[in-house]
Parts: sequence; structure tokens; C-alpha cells
Amino acid sequence: MIRTPKNILVTGGAGFIGSAFIRYSLSKDSCCEKIVNLDLLTYAADLKNLSSIESDPRYHLAIADICDEEVVESLCKEHGVDTIVHFAAESHVDRSIEGPAAFCRTNIEGTLHLLEVVRRNPSIHFHHVSTDEVYGSLGKEGAFNESSPICPNSPYAASKAASDHLVRAFANTYGISTTISHCSNNYGPCQNGEKLIPLMLSCLIEKRPLPIYGKGENIRDWLYVDDHVEALWTILQKAPKGSVFDIGGGYEASNIEIVHRLIEEYCSLTSQNTEEFTQLIHYVTDRPGHDFRYSIDPAKIQRELGWSPKYDFAKGLKETVQWYLENRRLQGCGV
Ligand SMILES: NC(=O)c1ccc[n+]([C@@H]2O[C@H](COP(=O)([O-])OP(=O)(O)OC[C@H]3O[C@@H](n4cnc5c(N)ncnc54)[C@H](O)[C@@H]3O)[C@@H](O)[C@H]2O)c1
Repeated sequence: MIRTPKNILVTGGAGFIGSAFIRYSLSKDSCCEKIVNLDLLTYAADLKNLSSIESDPRYHLAIADICDEEVVESLCKEHGVDTIVHFAAESHVDRSIEGPAAFCRTNIEGTLHLLEVVRRNPSIHFHHVSTDEVYGSLGKEGAFNESSPICPNSPYAASKAASDHLVRAFANTYGISTTISHCSNNYGPCQNGEKLIPLMLSCLIEKRPLPIYGKGENIRDWLYVDDHVEALWTILQKAPKGSVFDIGGGYEASNIEIVHRLIEEYCSLTSQNTEEFTQLIHYVTDRPGHDFRYSIDPAKIQRELGWSPKYDFAKGLKETVQWYLENRRLQGCGV
């Protein structure tokens, strides 16, 4: 064990993955002593994601901007923060195509301000949660690994790549302790309704057309969010300072395959016939510059840190659909 994080500042903890990280961390007695959730509560946040732990005395919410160095630094001092896990971001590719500036501000400048706080407080370890999208797009063969060239294609991916570079440069120049992870597409409970799986589910529930970009052939590598959280904990505890790890779910599927699997799962859980729902599939003009395929080779994290995903896609998808049906929380989808 290289690190035993005690007091963690989580940025973006009211979003999809950050909230899963907080719920997981506080469900394990041995994980940490305190979590401070620094979140600006943008449209992507939902405090209901944290309702199961909000009264835990180890949990503190600070509604603030990661660009506000003074607030970040005073929170770190007040709570004796030894680790920052940085999730906060603008995270939706379509929005980055509509308006890239917000992505540069939050994802690049925001990361810069957090790194400045760590530079002044070098006992803090900084983990940066990044994405496989920084590597660009693959053809039908091959997979990304930690040595793949950084080749972002969307303003979102470019802003994440820029923030990765800043983390690397701060570690190299100022000697601060950092780690970086790039993970593939996450799915699971509490995801914002603008993302593929909750969006399609909301359409199924309302029997609305299911809008699929292009021919639905774009391929993603799907990772259940709790597997991602376990990988992050493994990195926090075991990864050497300055290291980079890629995290993949080991399940590749095209968007259209995902939609067919969702229809099957939804119909099986609600005892309905798939035919009517399959007819709702509706192809729409493709996203500009839509990356064809992402795939992660997770050999390094498996070999060096002993992590591999526990969920297979069938189990993860079933739990996800069940959760949305029980909670009816398809935020941003109008359900
Ligand atoms: N969702 C995925 O499939 C995926 C895959 C790979 C990497 N990632 C990365 O994981 C991280 C989390 O992704 P997510 O899907 O949970 O995102 P999300 O959009 O669900 O949540 C982002 C959170 O950040 C907060 N936030 C935004 N701007 C902020 C600011 N200026 N100050 C403080 N808080 C702010 C929002 O309020 C929200 O709670 C992101 O960095 C993303 O790039 C996501």
C-alpha cells in the first residue's frame, strides 16, 4: 500500500461517477475518514444521488466552483485534506460542440486552479479522472493503452487532454504527487438523462422515438460505474506517484447493439413485447466528427495493481434498468 487516503476532497461529487465514488467510499468502514464534496451544482448535478449518505457525519458538502482557489484551499486546510479526487467537469460531447468555451473554463482552467492549490500544499495527492476520448478514434482493430498518442477529436476530449497535460506538467515541474486514469464509457444508476442509456430508457418509458446518431455503428467500451470506482480506489492506494492507468470494462458494443439490449431488458422487466419498441428506433444526422470506436487495453492496471472489472454487461445493464424503473430519475429527459 503506497497511500491510505483519510480526508478526501472530491470535486464534482454530485454528478454521476463522483456520487458513486462517495457512496462507495462511505459504505466501506475502512476506506476513509472524511469526504468533502466540492460541487458547483450545475445542470449535471443531482443531490438526490447522495441522499443515502447525506447525513453521514463523515460527509460534507461545499457548493463552490473549482476555479475558486481561495475556497478550495480553505476547504483543504479546514478538513485536513490529504487527497483530491477530481471528477468535476463539463462532460457531454454534444454540449462541447455547441459551446466549447465552458469546457475550456471548467475542464482546463478548473484543473489548473486545483493544481495551484496542490502546488502550495504539496502534502496533498491529486488524482485526475480522465477519459479514453483523449486518445481519439480507433478503426475496427486495436485498443488504446497508456502509451497511445493523445489525439482528441471533440472540444470535450481536447479540454480533457489539455487538463491531463497540465497534471503531468505540474508533477514534472513542481514535484507534486499525481495520478491520472483514463476510463471508457461508464453506465449505471444516477447518470444524467442526456447520456445514451438513460436517454434511451426515457424514450422507452414514454414510447417516444429513440434517436440514434448515424447508423448506430459507433463502438464504445462499457464499464459499470462501481467497477470504475473500485479501480479508482485501487489507484489511490497502490499507484506510484506520476503514474497513468487506463480502465476499461472489457465489453465493446455499437450504439445500436446497446439500444437493442436495452429494449430487451426493459421489455423483460416490464413484461412487454419488444416489437413495438424496436419500431421506435429512429436514425438522426450523425454528430459532427463522431469518433468511430474506443477500446481500452486494461493490461497495465490488471498486471501492476491487480484490478479487473467484476460486472459483466448483462448484470450491470439489468441492475441499471431496474434502478431507473424503480427511481424514475431520468433527469434531463423530461420523465
Ligand atoms: N461518464 C463517463 O462515461 C465518463 C467516462 C470517462 C471519464 N469521465 C470523466 O469522469 C468525470 C465525471 O464524469 P460524470 O459523467 O460523473 O460527469 P457529470 O457531468 O455527471 O458530473 C459532473 C459534476 O461536476 C460538477 N461541476 C461542473 N462544473 C463544476 C465546477 N466548475 N466546479 C465544481 N463542480 C463542477 C457538476 O455540478 C456535476 O456534479 C469527468 O471528469 C469526465 O470527464 C466520464
